[in-house]
Amino acid sequence: MGHFDPCNIPDRRGSDSVKWDRSVLKQICGNPDALPFWVADMDFPSPPEVIEALHERVSHGVFGYIQDMSEVYELFTRWTWSRHRWPTEAAQLCITPGIISALSCLVNVFTREGDRIIIQTPAYRPFFSVIRENRRVVAENPLRYQAGRYTLDLDHLESLMKAPSAAMMIFCSPHNPSGRVWTRAELEEVDALAKRYHVLVISDEIHADMSYRHVRHIPYSSLSESAAPRSVTCMAPSKTFNIPGEHFSCIVIPDAGMKKRFASYLKRFSINTPTILSRVAAEAAYRHGAPWLDGLIAHLEDQTSYIDRTLSEASREILYVKPEASFIAFIDCREVEKRLNPGEDLVQVLGTKGGIALHRGSWFGRDGSGFVRMNFGTSRALLQEGLVRFIETVRTI
Ligand SMILES: Cc1ncc(COP(=O)(O)O)c(C=O)c1O
Repeated sequence: MGHFDPCNIPDRRGSDSVKWDRSVLKQICGNPDALPFWVADMDFPSPPEVIEALHERVSHGVFGYIQDMSEVYELFTRWTWSRHRWPTEAAQLCITPGIISALSCLVNVFTREGDRIIIQTPAYRPFFSVIRENRRVVAENPLRYQAGRYTLDLDHLESLMKAPSAAMMIFCSPHNPSGRVWTRAELEEVDALAKRYHVLVISDEIHADMSYRHVRHIPYSSLSESAAPRSVTCMAPSKTFNIPGEHFSCIVIPDAGMKKRFASYLKRFSINTPTILSRVAAEAAYRHGAPWLDGLIAHLEDQTSYIDRTLSEASREILYVKPEASFIAFIDCREVEKRLNPGEDLVQVLGTKGGIALHRGSWFGRDGSGFVRMNFGTSRALLQEGLVRFIETVRTI
């Protein structure tokens, strides 16, 4: 059985990785040699069983069309039950080449041009573009932020949902970039509003499998019998097992009529069948990956405690938004930013002076301004080096 090894970090430079690509690093932080902590993929190899399954399939040498999805459906439904106590059925499932492509299709199938789609901001940037590029309107519900913790603004959410053109909410659960795992009470409030105002909830749960042990992720659709038919849940093995480049996502649509409409939309564009290797990787991950994932979660919990300790010892000005899932840390640098010279940009200063590449908070919308996001899905040694660079550079500002 493959165990997670937090020290096994292959050199990713020159391996076709956008995160480590020198020209991309130059663009995002002004320094091609900066240590990258930005885009959300991890530096660890996938579980050994995933790599072995891919080797075995590749050595067969023939990569023809595939048809049968029953095995991966069965493995996914077992997974949602064993990890989240959420009973799903093969008949509710569609496979898409990623979550963002699924969101774009869902927007097209279930809303009309000009409709308003609600998101909680700061938000994963493609949520904005998926809505706007499909000629719908973004309705922003800024999260409340106090003392390093984000919560939902339910009053404002209600005022947005009341609008007759509010057709859908893309709900990030757990939330990127805050790392919040929403509680049952919070989810039930959202559900009550969505039900009252007939808003379809698309729950993007790509980070759910990496929820930490002191919290419990609750799939939106599992909340109540009435939540299921008014929601679509998007999950994937991509972040969980570090195979995002395989583009394989599992979309769960409990309402049979909605599932049929969505499936026929995917068929129309011939994006209803995954690639053979992505399916092999997903099957191996769901079949064998649980022990590896448990090791990963323990490591991510250690990493986030380490960031918390290190930043609070280093500075009172920097506020760490403690995540409850996944490998992303949102860091409040608004006080530091105030000291920058006119025209200076924090991410560029950190890149050029400090040799560290972080994600700019405003990439997540205007509410993210003054924050940076750090991807800590890497070894302790690299994280330590990154934090030293970050803190030393901040001290020079
Ligand atoms: C909330 C969220 N949704 C979707 C994605 C991307 O999904 P995909 O690569 O499957 O399109 C990410 C990637 O970081 C994410 O954080």
